[in-house]
Amino acid sequence: VSKIIYLDHNATTPFHPDLQGLVPQWMEVWGNPSSIHWAGREPKAYLREARARLAQMLNVEPLELIFTSGGSEANNLAIKGICTVPVSEQDRNQVVISAVEHPSVLKAARSLSALGYRVDMIKVSRTGELDLRQLQSLLSDKTALVSVMLANNETGDIFPIAEVAKMSHAVGAKMHCDAVQGLGKLNVDLRQLGVDLASFSGHKFYALKGCGLLYSRRGTQLNSLIHGGGQERGRRAGTENLLSIASLGHMAGLAPQITSQSKRVMGLRDRLESHIVSEISHVQRTGGHGPRLPNTSSLIVEDVDGETLLMNLDVRGFAVSTGAACSAGNPEPSPTLLAMGLTREEAQSSLRISLGWATTEVECDSFVEALVQVVERLRGFKPNKMKYGV
Ligand SMILES: Cc1ncc(COP(=O)(O)O)c(C=O)c1O
Repeated sequence: VSKIIYLDHNATTPFHPDLQGLVPQWMEVWGNPSSIHWAGREPKAYLREARARLAQMLNVEPLELIFTSGGSEANNLAIKGICTVPVSEQDRNQVVISAVEHPSVLKAARSLSALGYRVDMIKVSRTGELDLRQLQSLLSDKTALVSVMLANNETGDIFPIAEVAKMSHAVGAKMHCDAVQGLGKLNVDLRQLGVDLASFSGHKFYALKGCGLLYSRRGTQLNSLIHGGGQERGRRAGTENLLSIASLGHMAGLAPQITSQSKRVMGLRDRLESHIVSEISHVQRTGGHGPRLPNTSSLIVEDVDGETLLMNLDVRGFAVSTGAACSAGNPEPSPTLLAMGLTREEAQSSLRISLGWATTEVECDSFVEALVQVVERLRGFKPNKMKYGV
């Protein structure tokens, strides 16, 4: 491989270049932030600083933020932390989630059945719209929690969170939003969204891996999942991953700079999509009829197996995705795409391209060039290639 090109930023992002210089300095701050002697003072100040920057970025109060190990833990804490009490007949016993949530939301919600909760799913159309009328019909005074993601990791579809929050609050339910895919791509203002809980992950936002965030609106009754010391005001025990948290705090300071690239990135994405569609026959877009993340393109390349396509592109140095990264190596098609009404065959021919703030036009052009060649070759192996008449 002569050149490597990374177009899988929804799976994880490369570290921001600033971190190369900063991490060695931060490594000198190794103390435990809970220690009251000299070794604890500086790390404690780092923690405070990171929390303040993140709170400012999200337009919330610092103490409304809880550091976690990542997005999955934040989602689990939100869902299991709200729905802790076994339900009896008169209690709120229903959790409503969208049909395209990340497995950390879906499986956390399903785990609540042991406590007597039922889980209902809001449909998402093939074109990427959340069915708000169905949501309205599901909501009642039995609804404990509604969880809908800000933007889908596979298709990039952005859902109307402020509206969902209003509808949920109207029946007295809490509203959680998995906003992991929003950071670095959109301005995320949690007060404007009006949610009670929201999850974030450092490694999707150019920070080090191993830290995430849960926003829990002041006054929200949240039970801890990890019991132990009094860190994070008793809401998440365990000595903090300071290096990772410092890097996320640093990225919060850079958020305006990173999101200012969104318009440029969207231009690149749109150009890339139109090149692909004009140069390769029988390519369809998944989702994306409403608002969509500026960096994400989700396509079906008909009559080509997604895994085979991915491996052939990988050999040439291109990193892209088929379905979600966490299911890579798993031959099952993406549950998200199936839930949106794609056939198994279509879902198995899916390709996700996700750009980053530093992606260039040259990178996109060489990707399209390689994709055209690989698709042509793979379709050429098929005896029914004449069906396209090309
Ligand atoms: C929408 C969404 N939620 C949650 C997660 C999980 O985040 P983490 O990898 O930090 O646990 C991901 C990562 O794939 C994601 O895309």
